[in-house]
Amino acid sequence: MKERENFGSRTAVIMAMAGSAIGLGNIWRFPYLVGQDGGAAFILVYIAATLVLSLPIFFAESIIGRRSHANCRGAMERLAPGTKWRWLGLLAVFTPMFIVSYYGVVGGWSLEYFIQACSLKFVHTAPEDLTGTFGEFIARPWAPVAFHLLFLLVTVVIVAFGVRSGIERVSKAGLPVLFVLIVVLAIYSVSLPGAQKGVEYLLKPDWSKLTPTTCIDALGQSFFSLSLGVGIIITYSSYVSKEENLLVSGVGTAVSDLVFALLAGLAIMPAVFAAGIEPGSGPGLIFDTLPFIFAKMGGIGAAVAILFFFTVLFAALTSCMSLVEVGVAYLTEERHMSRGWSCALIFVLTGAAGTLCSLSFGPLSQVHLSGQGIFDFADSFASNVLMTLGGLLCVVFAGWQMKRSDVFDEFTNGGTKTLNVKCFRAAYFLIRYVAPLGVAVLMLTNLL
Ligand code: PHE
Repeated sequence: MKERENFGSRTAVIMAMAGSAIGLGNIWRFPYLVGQDGGAAFILVYIAATLVLSLPIFFAESIIGRRSHANCRGAMERLAPGTKWRWLGLLAVFTPMFIVSYYGVVGGWSLEYFIQACSLKFVHTAPEDLTGTFGEFIARPWAPVAFHLLFLLVTVVIVAFGVRSGIERVSKAGLPVLFVLIVVLAIYSVSLPGAQKGVEYLLKPDWSKLTPTTCIDALGQSFFSLSLGVGIIITYSSYVSKEENLLVSGVGTAVSDLVFALLAGLAIMPAVFAAGIEPGSGPGLIFDTLPFIFAKMGGIGAAVAILFFFTVLFAALTSCMSLVEVGVAYLTEERHMSRGWSCALIFVLTGAAGTLCSLSFGPLSQVHLSGQGIFDFADSFASNVLMTLGGLLCVVFAGWQMKRSDVFDEFTNGGTKTLNVKCFRAAYFLIRYVAPLGVAVLMLTNLL
């Protein structure tokens, strides 16, 4: 059998995982949630949620991945042969393919907006004339589909190059650039007249806003942002060598993800307040509100827009790569397809499903699935049901199905990492009891 690839170094592992974690969630949802839910107070709850819920699930998935050195389906077969757990393996392959279908559509929008920024559209159009253009763009039948397919094509081509030459290389080159860009944007945004209010909106602690709902928001955002419950961490960890430290890669990924989200907040909110606009979240924030602000900035707005949409595009790309890799690992190892053909098949399937999602803003807007358009249905079904279910089953698998000694062995590299040995009891307790409870609560509140 062909030897499996591994990531080349610890930095590569963290960069690839952080590349998956840092995505649209950090840019369009985190800043808004922080502002709305209590500023610094919310950030503390978010950190607590990461420690008690997301990191334990992250560790559970890394342990499963590295222990088995296999794709999600193969991992279940190796660690629990012939059991019903194979359904978890299949779920963990299905979910990311489902997500690529609509995430790729948003990737397509970012590509289109990046091109528009490069063609200086936002400085050559009066700010008022930009209002509503995003709605018009996504309602057009073919342009968004074409951009979506182009974005997807770039993603699968990178993945086709392999774990080292594709994913690792792009993440290692791109992630530092992403951080530099977001720092530059944050500095600029904070220096605008009237930006102070935006900084306060983000950071001023307001303890009165901490309610059960905001705590659930923190749990959900932390879970989504670390790309949990979708087989990505299992798959990426299966490419991590036995010498690497899972504690370090988990904490490294979570810290980079949080720092990036905070910087994104500082890049966006002060500019929004400086322009005298009420902040919102989601696609409307980055594709409607921000172009309006760029147009108001005058000449420099052109440069800011290009840097910003490049950041969004690249953040979406590295997240999408990680989703595609889960499917590719499955197809190459379980179905014995070549990497190239696996990528081609995934392109065709997710391209077709994504086209339906994309058309749901235009020609297919009348089609509804449980009361929502196709795109919105896919998004909520994935985050509310598929991801939480996957995350829940993964922690239960590591906490209750695997032997404690195997989990210990993997988490501490055979007892050789002192800090990991010291943290093990707490981590195992969280994996066994706290995280399953937390993610079950999250799932129920999402569904009710
Ligand atoms: N973590 C990504 C973000 O914050 C979203 C994502 C979730 C990507 C699940 C892949 C899988 O945008």
